[in-house]
Amino acid sequence: AKDEELEQAVEAALEAGYRHIDTAHVYENEKVIGKVLNRWFSSGKLNRQDIFLVTKLPPGGNRAESVQKYIKRSLEFLQVDYVDLYLVHVPFGFKDIEGDLHPVTPEGFINMDTSTDHVTLWKAMEAQVDAGLTKAIGISNFNKSQIQRILQNARIPPCNLQIELHAYLQQKDLVEFCKKNKIVVTAYSPLGSPGLAKFMAQFGKKIDLPDVLNNPVVQAIAAKHNKNGAQIVLRHAVQKKIVVIPKSTNPQRLRQNIDIFDFELDDEDMNQLNGLDQGIRILDFSAFKGIKDHPEYPFKE
Ligand code: A2P
Repeated sequence: AKDEELEQAVEAALEAGYRHIDTAHVYENEKVIGKVLNRWFSSGKLNRQDIFLVTKLPPGGNRAESVQKYIKRSLEFLQVDYVDLYLVHVPFGFKDIEGDLHPVTPEGFINMDTSTDHVTLWKAMEAQVDAGLTKAIGISNFNKSQIQRILQNARIPPCNLQIELHAYLQQKDLVEFCKKNKIVVTAYSPLGSPGLAKFMAQFGKKIDLPDVLNNPVVQAIAAKHNKNGAQIVLRHAVQKKIVVIPKSTNPQRLRQNIDIFDFELDDEDMNQLNGLDQGIRILDFSAFKGIKDHPEYPFKE
């Protein structure tokens, strides 16, 4: 979202009762979020501890010696002393080039750092908890074997995994694995990212998106509960104890997306929604040309 649109959206979200804010250094929106939060904190409308603030290490920082530089930069942009959760955004690394979060080679390939090592990287993540710069640490877009390797070597185990998860990509195996290992799962693109086609079109990329929200099963359950499709798929994940972070800049949709705590899906609804899983992944990072050759690319078949 553009800065002004985002500023209004964060205001509207806080007014609507949202208290979990998910951002990342690569989203380039930490400064705007920081500005709004600072307004709410300094006016006394909210205290720092009322907010659960999450940000992420950019792929250009995926090596032990870069972690502190990037978390401190995020804290400065967000105007806070600590975040509640700091995530390794992706398992693969890019070259660390100042001022370029997505560096590309002259041939148009993403400029990768193929020496990414999760064990040493994780030790640097743990050091940020020790330093008080984050309350907790986790990972995003990691696969099961990558998580397993961190768990085997961690002093502070990851407490959260953030992954693409929606009705068409329910990630049941990975969710079960996380449950066994006491890792909370957060679903990004929980609505199936309906705005992604428009976003990618700006870069001349055409993608075919599955329409999760208008799926007839979702719509029938929505009619039964007098809710809309978005509220049904969000409630489905929440009833499975999955954290959801739907994105909206529209105040009306923002309010709808948090208005999911006054009804319950019954077993039949849950079973029908569970049955929609089709393993359709929307975000596989292929927009980064050449990324599938990185040794830590997570979605190899
Ligand atoms: P907008 O910001 O105009 O509301 P996801 O979180 O799955 O990535 O989806 C984000 C996209 O979904 C955004 O494009 C957002 O558009 C759209 N969106 C958010 N809430 C709803 C809703 N309740 N119904 C339909 N589309 C929504």
